[in-house]
Amino acid sequence: MSRPAVARVHLEHIVDNFQLATSLCPESGQALAVIKADAYGHGAVRVAQALEPHVPAFAVACIEEALELRQGGIQKPILLLEGFFTADELPVIAEQGFWTAVHRPEQLAHIREAALPVPLNVWIKIDSGMHRLGFDPEVAGNVVRQAQSMPEIGNIVVMSHFANADLDAPAGINPNTQVDRLLAAVEGLDVDFSLANSAALLAHPFARQQWQRPGIMLYGASPLETDNADSSRLKPGMTLESAVIATRWVQPGESVGYGSRFVADKPTRVGTVAIGYADGYPRQAVDGTPLAVDGQRTRLIGRVSMDMITVDLTDIDGADVGSKVELWGEQIDANDVAAHCDTIAYHLFTGVTRRVPRVY
Ligand SMILES: Cc1ncc(COP(=O)(O)O)c(C=O)c1O
Repeated sequence: MSRPAVARVHLEHIVDNFQLATSLCPESGQALAVIKADAYGHGAVRVAQALEPHVPAFAVACIEEALELRQGGIQKPILLLEGFFTADELPVIAEQGFWTAVHRPEQLAHIREAALPVPLNVWIKIDSGMHRLGFDPEVAGNVVRQAQSMPEIGNIVVMSHFANADLDAPAGINPNTQVDRLLAAVEGLDVDFSLANSAALLAHPFARQQWQRPGIMLYGASPLETDNADSSRLKPGMTLESAVIATRWVQPGESVGYGSRFVADKPTRVGTVAIGYADGYPRQAVDGTPLAVDGQRTRLIGRVSMDMITVDLTDIDGADVGSKVELWGEQIDANDVAAHCDTIAYHLFTGVTRRVPRVY
């Protein structure tokens, strides 16, 4: 007998979602799989092993994540989306066949000075409006020309990232404005492009280029404010589940849990479930956050504690100690939970802690 909180990872769904991403690429284009942050909490090595036969390359945030994949036996190229932080990473990047983002001028100088045995493949990041990482459009053409002239550099991809590809009608900068800026910045240069994250790949055909970079869609959560036919085909990558470990009745006027946040207005059957914020179930979850007990949809009642939550069993047929509880996954959309917690599915997935065993 052990604590029933587990994250079931559906590797076959993640592969299916990657195939969907690939089907949206243009004929001359392909997708790499973004598996940074431990594959968004799903377990990077296991996810990469499942995807490796299907993907041309992977992307992670940093060299530590890439090395973990190599130690797990992953052989495909791995792009470092944040690039290298210090020049001493360069020999390892070259030796391991990693690709690196380049987002500021000193990085080109470091590559020139590193005297590496092989030319590095680089993804030159242009800031087309996100204002987070990358060269300004005004200098982008010169930077790319400089990189093209360097024998220390092999293949070049020009990359940019969208601020608002998920929104129906962004108040901020539009994806098409970002695309126009980028294409104008490097006009006439012979390079491959990579623009699309999941949202752009799903919703903005004009953003599809030689390389796409889907992340969240591989794990089955749609990033789109309004779903479309393609995003509706995504399959959940993770089911977070636990079980009821105690039940009791509370009467009208009685409260449940810390801060007495939930107060019963009628006789209410409370189930206590073994999962809490130390497992990554968000403490911000409000009363009414959806979950399923024995396959029947119900709601969170009372504040989330470190190791437990309390749920409404009043109308759940047959629920008792041992009943299975799904926090998100096949029946409960992680986006729906996130909406009750003032967050996003990315945050829920990456927040599932080490205490929760991943079962594949
Ligand atoms: C540079 C870059 N490309 C691609 C992705 C994948 O984005 P998404 O998970 O929204 O598909 C990310 C994720 O944040 C990113 O930072």
